[in-house]
Amino acid sequence: MSTLLLCVDKLEVVYQRAITAVQGITLSAREGQIVGVLGTNGAGKSTLLRAISGFHGIDDARVTEGSIVFKGRRIENSEPHAIAQTGIVLVPERDKVFPNLTVAENLAVPVAPKLAGSERRRRETQVMQFFPKLGALRNRTAGLLSGGERQMLAIATALVCRVELLLVDELSLGLAPVVVDDLMARLMQIKRELGITIVLVEQSAAVALAVADYSYVLENGRIVLDGDKARLASHADIQEFYLGNANGGQRRSYRDVKQYRRSRRWYG
Ligand SMILES: Nc1ncnc2c1ncn2[C@@H]1O[C@H](COP(=O)(O)OP(=O)(O)O)[C@@H](O)[C@H]1O
Ligand SMILES: [Mg+2]
Repeated sequence: MSTLLLCVDKLEVVYQRAITAVQGITLSAREGQIVGVLGTNGAGKSTLLRAISGFHGIDDARVTEGSIVFKGRRIENSEPHAIAQTGIVLVPERDKVFPNLTVAENLAVPVAPKLAGSERRRRETQVMQFFPKLGALRNRTAGLLSGGERQMLAIATALVCRVELLLVDELSLGLAPVVVDDLMARLMQIKRELGITIVLVEQSAAVALAVADYSYVLENGRIVLDGDKARLASHADIQEFYLGNANGGQRRSYRDVKQYRRSRRWYG
């Protein structure tokens, strides 16, 4: 097995000294893996990624318990720029690109940690092969791109630096299935050809399970289930509440899922 790159142990994150958003989260990512984190709205997925990348401090949140270890070093509650220097890059849920800059200008915005000049040019060429569409749109203002193109640009920008761990928050939200499939294929290519480790946060279990080597299910800030694709895809709860395979193939509504969560909390 490849070496452990990221180890999150019993993590607790509290906003404004009052709101506990995640509690007792333990997860890990091995080098070259795609790790999925799935859960419904408000489960704590973004909080987890922000804590790993250090951006939680912006919202007055702190890691109050547990640890985050990256390449053998504790990084929890470090400054975002210091964490970026270690090789962790976040593609956030919102504000992924600079809307007033063109595609080419977005790609030229230096993202930490920097690659040396020649390496950066080589990486940019490689990245443009992953996303040929971006080449054709070089001079388009990013604010005018479609949702899918914007996601491509956000990933491309994150790759033209010395990234070792890529954190991707909700890539599929609001996109057509065919666009999502294409983005997921690119993530697999990035993992395979660049050897970059990816933590992929998704509301869509189908999307995450299709590409992740190992996944964790988050509910109310806690991990309730984890396993590889085969284990999770065949798990009854996942089948019923996340993949919507019960109920004659109809996807369960969010209300149903919430009722399920409530019943689990009270009786489970
Ligand atoms: N800026 C914030 N201030 C206070 N509480 C927040 C903030 N952001 C998120 N939370 C809390 O953390 C919980 C998890 O939110 P989040 O991590 O955004 O979930 P997800 O990304 O899974 O939808 C929410 O229920 C909310 O109560
Ligand atoms: Mg989120």
